[in-house]
Amino acid sequence: MKRFYIETVGCQMNVLDSELAAAELISAGWERLDSRKGADLVVFNTCSVREHAEEKIYSALGRLKTWKLEKPGSLIVVMGCMAQKDKDVVFQRAPFVDVVVGPGRIGDLATLVAAAASTGKQQLAVGIDRFQHKTDRSEVKESFRLYDPIRLPQTRPHVFQAMVRIMFGCDKFCSYCVVPSVRGPEQSRSPKEILDEIKTLADQGCVEVTLLGQTVNSYRYREGDKTTRLSDLLAMIDGVSGIRRVRFVSSYPTDMTDELLQAVRDLPSATPYLHVPAQHGANSVLKRMRRRYTVEEYRDLVDRIYSTVPDAAITSDFIVGFSGETEEEFQQTIDLVRYARFKNSFIFKYSVRPGNEASRIYEDDVPEAVKKRRNNELLAVQNEISAELNRSFLGREVEILVEGPSKREAKSVAQEESLYAENEQPIETSVETSSAPSNLTSLSDLIATAAPSGTVQLTGRTPCDRIVVFNGLPELAGTFQRVKIVETAPFTLFGKIITK
Ligand code: 5AD
Ligand code: SF4
Repeated sequence: MKRFYIETVGCQMNVLDSELAAAELISAGWERLDSRKGADLVVFNTCSVREHAEEKIYSALGRLKTWKLEKPGSLIVVMGCMAQKDKDVVFQRAPFVDVVVGPGRIGDLATLVAAAASTGKQQLAVGIDRFQHKTDRSEVKESFRLYDPIRLPQTRPHVFQAMVRIMFGCDKFCSYCVVPSVRGPEQSRSPKEILDEIKTLADQGCVEVTLLGQTVNSYRYREGDKTTRLSDLLAMIDGVSGIRRVRFVSSYPTDMTDELLQAVRDLPSATPYLHVPAQHGANSVLKRMRRRYTVEEYRDLVDRIYSTVPDAAITSDFIVGFSGETEEEFQQTIDLVRYARFKNSFIFKYSVRPGNEASRIYEDDVPEAVKKRRNNELLAVQNEISAELNRSFLGREVEILVEGPSKREAKSVAQEESLYAENEQPIETSVETSSAPSNLTSLSDLIATAAPSGTVQLTGRTPCDRIVVFNGLPELAGTFQRVKIVETAPFTLFGKIITK
């Protein structure tokens, strides 16, 4: 049996794509490995949202050349957003790569690998460039679509949690972004397809689903004269037996309807976690970014969220150092963060992406040092708020879904053998580890030493997606437990399990 290893960088969409790619390969008779050692095939799932990520991928590919030379017959696949963006340029920059496959063509992966192995020829399968090919939109859409993904329980880190894509692509065209070109036109999947997939997952033991879409709350599916929106879909999923928690990411601010907020408030399975990227706090910059709202409208949205869903945890993305950003404009982002009291914010330094609107009409004129300083300043304000919000949990009881041993206990071989010098972890992980204060370790040590025998340090998540560390038996993974919060830090709550 031939063996493969997948390395993933980037967002949750990529994590899901890797899972689906693994399922494709396993169904075609391949075996998955947790590390590159012993693999016949290495698959890179790449990201191109910022330049830094791409450069790291090309240098990691360079290192893999030696591996390939030492192992005749071995294969290298580059998939994901960078594959779609660079297409055959990947073959020019890394001629030893065998297959380049775009995010819309994962369903063809096993066939492409087989063709590369049998013919020795490089294989390329990417979506049709939507900006070059203006005549037949359905053909472009088709080339970015994965209709019927295979879901195998063994490809997920936890069988009880799964991501489900409900839409593809993006039509918002924010001026700085590469996604509308690499992920193609916005297309919603049919409710039937989505529900069938979620039922399959529930049968496999899944209790929590995360619905994914680039602008997930723009979901809209028309069939005859019936239109299904995300609020309707949430109600349908609420009826699927076994599914106890549903969340959705990422939301676009102007598509957050009252119906959707009411669905989040009223449906037992819908969780009060809302990731609604604001990107900036100044109208002038929002305009240059081509976001379709003003900061006043965003503030109204925040008010509407808290008044409809009082226990909501809102999170956001921000870009600092976008073209022309002045100190005053940056201060308005700080004001917005203070106003909205986000549970946390993911902060990015602006990175020019060739081909998009911003790269054509604006200069990348904010010096790197200024971007860095603004990033840190914003992060400090956000951390203060995150810590304050977490402190309000002290003494409270929360229901958590237990995920398993905390990261410190579960350091995997794959992480140690990562091809990337510093792997860009999925968003949550990077924030959690990068901002942890030093007293955190001693606190978790304290909890660990007080543990009764047989217990280990476990983590779980609240409905609002807060991480809780506590002691318990490893067998609790995948169950819901009540925990009392005894200590807090900006990104972690520490609790004690409440024994019945
Ligand atoms: N530079 C920096 N950050 C970016 N993002 C998207 N494009 C860029 C870019 N060119 C950020 C946005 C988005 C997140 C996923 O990445 O904040 O919400
Ligand atoms: Fe990019 Fe804007 Fe679409 Fe988000 S909404 S994927 S930032 S174009």
